[in-house]
Amino acid sequence: MKVGIIGSGGREHAICSALKNSSKIDKIYCFPGNAGTSNIAENIKINLDDFEILKNFIFEKKIDLIFVGPEKPLVEGIVDYLEKFKIKVFGPNKLASQLEGSKIFTKKICQKFNIPTAKFGIFQNTKEAKKFLNKTSFPTVIKADNLASGKGVYICKNENEAKIAIDEIFGGKFGYAKNLLIEEFLDGEEMSFFTIHDGVTFKNFGTAQDHKRVLEGDKGKNTGGMGAYSPSRLINEELEKKIINRIIKPTLKGLSERGIQYKGFLYTGLMIVKNEPYLIEYNVRMGDPECQTIIPRLDSDLYDIILACCNSKLNEIDVKWSNNKSLCIVLCSKGYPDDFKKNVEIEHLNKIKVNESDFLFHAGTINKQDKIYAIGGRVLNFVSISENFNNSKENILNNLEKLNWSGGFYRKDIGYKVIK
Ligand code: AMP
Ligand code: GLY
Repeated sequence: MKVGIIGSGGREHAICSALKNSSKIDKIYCFPGNAGTSNIAENIKINLDDFEILKNFIFEKKIDLIFVGPEKPLVEGIVDYLEKFKIKVFGPNKLASQLEGSKIFTKKICQKFNIPTAKFGIFQNTKEAKKFLNKTSFPTVIKADNLASGKGVYICKNENEAKIAIDEIFGGKFGYAKNLLIEEFLDGEEMSFFTIHDGVTFKNFGTAQDHKRVLEGDKGKNTGGMGAYSPSRLINEELEKKIINRIIKPTLKGLSERGIQYKGFLYTGLMIVKNEPYLIEYNVRMGDPECQTIIPRLDSDLYDIILACCNSKLNEIDVKWSNNKSLCIVLCSKGYPDDFKKNVEIEHLNKIKVNESDFLFHAGTINKQDKIYAIGGRVLNFVSISENFNNSKENILNNLEKLNWSGGFYRKDIGYKVIK
C-alpha cells in the first residue's frame, strides 16, 4: 500500500513512523514532511492550497490512502475535495471540521444538548462587546471565532486587558473577525482526550497533558506546546464515562442532526474541575505534541485502524495500548514563540540513540546535503516510554544533554505534576 501524509510537524513524523512499522505499507509520501520523515518516506514539496495539484499527484503515484495531520486543510475542505475523486482520506470533512473552525458552531451544539462548557456570549462588534464588560467578572476569556492557530484566545485579568483583546480581534489580528466570544473563566486542570471515529462508531485514543506555556512553572506566553505526557494524571473510569456520555456522544448527535458524520481523530480539550469535565474546545485532529506521546503507546497496527475508519469498520478492530508512561520534551529555537533564527544547523544528531522506547520526532527541520537545519520554532520532539514518568524524563534529559544544541532551549519541568 502507498500512503500520503499531509503536514510537517512532530505529529506527522510520529504518525509516519508508526505507519512505517506496518507490514502492509510499501511507500509513504509526506506533503511536505521534515528532515525526520525524509529518512523513512519521500518528502514532496507541493502547494497545499491547491488541492488539484495534490489530487493529480495522488493519481500519478497511485497513492491508496491520505492522512491529513493539521486542521487548516481539513477546515478548508480537503477531505470533501479528495473524496469527490474517490480517494480514501482519513480526516473529517469541511462541515464536521467546524467543530474546530468555528467556536460558535460548537457552542450552539453545547447549548442544545446541555454539554458542560463555560458560559459565554457572542458579540458582533466592538461596542457591544465592550459594553458587556460592565457585567463581566475577571479573569474572563475572550476568543476569536475563527481558526487562529491557538493564538486567538486571551485570558484577561481586568477590563483594560479585555478591551485590548476586543480591539485586536476585531482589528483583524487573526484574520477577518465576524464574531468574538466572551467566556467564563474555568478554574481547573486541563486534559486532552482523544477519540478516533469512522463515521458510525468511535474508540478511545488515549489521554495526555500538554504544557502550552513557554516558561517553566507554566508561565509566559502560549506556544504550540512545549511538551506533554500520556496518560493524563486526571483520567479515571468515572471521568471517562462523563466525558463520553455528557460531551462526546451529544456532540456526535448534534452533528448527526445536521446530517454530518464524523470521521478522523477528535481532540476534546477539557478543563477538569473537581472530577467534572467541561469542554474548552474541540480540535479535529491529533494534538501536537500529545500525538508524539500517545502513538508510541499504541500496540496495534496504526494502518489497520486508519483504513478501518476510512471503510467505516472500526468496530472490527481492536485498539490495544501499553501501560507505559510516555513523556515528550520539545526542543525549540531560541526566541520562540517570538522571533527566532532560521536555518541554524543542528549538529551531533547522530549521537542520539533511538530504539523501541526512545524516540526522536522532528518538527521544524530540513535536510540539506546531509546536514540538518532548524527552520521552525518547535524543532525536535524527544519522547521516551517506560514504566514510570521519572525514568522517561531522565532518558529524554540525557539525550537533550548529549545533543547540547546551542541554538535551542527546552523546559526541564515537563510532567512536574506527575514527577516528584
Ligand atoms: P483554546 O485555543 O481554546 O485551546 O484556548 C487556549 C488555552 O486557553 C486553553 O488551552 C486554556 O488553557 C485556555 N482557556 C480557553 N478557554 C478557557 C476558559 N473558558 N477558562 C479557562 N481557560 C481557558
Ligand atoms: N497541543 C495543542 C494542540 O495540538 O492544539
